[in-house]
Amino acid sequence: MFAQNFPSKVLINEVATRDGFQSEEVFIPTEKKIDMINRLSLLGLNKIEVTSFVSPKAIPNLRDAEQVMAGITRHPNVTYVALVPNERGVERALASKVDEVNLVMSVSESHNLANMRMTCDQSLVQFKQIVKRLEGSDIKINASLATAFGCPFEGITPPQNVIDTIHKYLDIGVQSISVADTTGMAAPRQVYDLCTQIKEMFPSLETTLHLHNTRGMGLANALAGINAGIVQLDASLGGIGGCPYAPGATGNICTEDLVHMLESIGLNTGVDLASLLTIARELPDLLGHDISGQVAKAGLRTETRPLSNSVIELKRRMSQY
Ligand code: COA
Ligand code: ZN
Repeated sequence: MFAQNFPSKVLINEVATRDGFQSEEVFIPTEKKIDMINRLSLLGLNKIEVTSFVSPKAIPNLRDAEQVMAGITRHPNVTYVALVPNERGVERALASKVDEVNLVMSVSESHNLANMRMTCDQSLVQFKQIVKRLEGSDIKINASLATAFGCPFEGITPPQNVIDTIHKYLDIGVQSISVADTTGMAAPRQVYDLCTQIKEMFPSLETTLHLHNTRGMGLANALAGINAGIVQLDASLGGIGGCPYAPGATGNICTEDLVHMLESIGLNTGVDLASLLTIARELPDLLGHDISGQVAKAGLRTETRPLSNSVIELKRRMSQY
């Protein structure tokens, strides 16, 4: 039967202001970022990935991370997350009192070198120090497995490499993980199989699926993951985003399209879709370019358009026969 394994609720994490804004060429003013996060905070989202405490040379658009964290109004039901690549980043995250840090390492060595300029072992050494540094604090530690399905330099990722990386994360004290399809190389069967394996091997581990729609399979992959027991998904308003250190990378799965699809099959997200669409429709002006999200353009599938007068007249005439 369709959707027999679906959960009663799917949690949505918004990553537009981090994954989305990180690759924008034109600097997005700090107050616009703050305003967007404050509005998103009221819409029933589970987490908001606010920004990154990375090198401002690597990601210039997020150079205002401290100001953004300090400027937002925090909603008690939302977990405010920041990406952290190294020990320097965690000091900044601590000073800004984030709720959760998101450590990022790639499953593939080549992508980790391109993105973080470190080997995976070097990243893990840093993460060990970070976990130690956060001991005794309230800050939660999530770790992302970038290129978990495929790497633009090394090809499709063997599932065993993902499992090995999860073990390494758990060994150093990471509390939750995000399995990331950084450059949209995943396919639904692959997502279903890997997520099933993860859920079987680590049943109590909080696991988020982080998908990109680079090859048009993003929402199909989301459904495949949910069918395998995943109940938490990252998504980006308007479908914006992408890793600046991966050739050909494009945006995340689009938050409003994901919520719209899940609602259409009776899956509750608790997210206010109408308000999400309002903010998504402002993105082209804010960013200076079109967005890939579809529902913001097409409208809800349940929305109807008025018939033109000529068709109304035709209908009237036809009804006389
Ligand atoms: N916050 C702010 N500045 C940082 C920093 C941090 N967390 N880590 C390093 N820096 C600064 C250093 O002080 C140095 O500045 P300087 O040139 O003015 O002296 C510069 O960044 C380079 O530092 P270095 O330690 O030599 O790092 P690197 O050049 O090897 O880069 C990273 C390593 C991880 C800092 C960098 O590649 C990075 O920030 N990557 C993030 C990439 C990302 O976010 N990708 C998308 C997410 S998937
Ligand atoms: Zn991403």
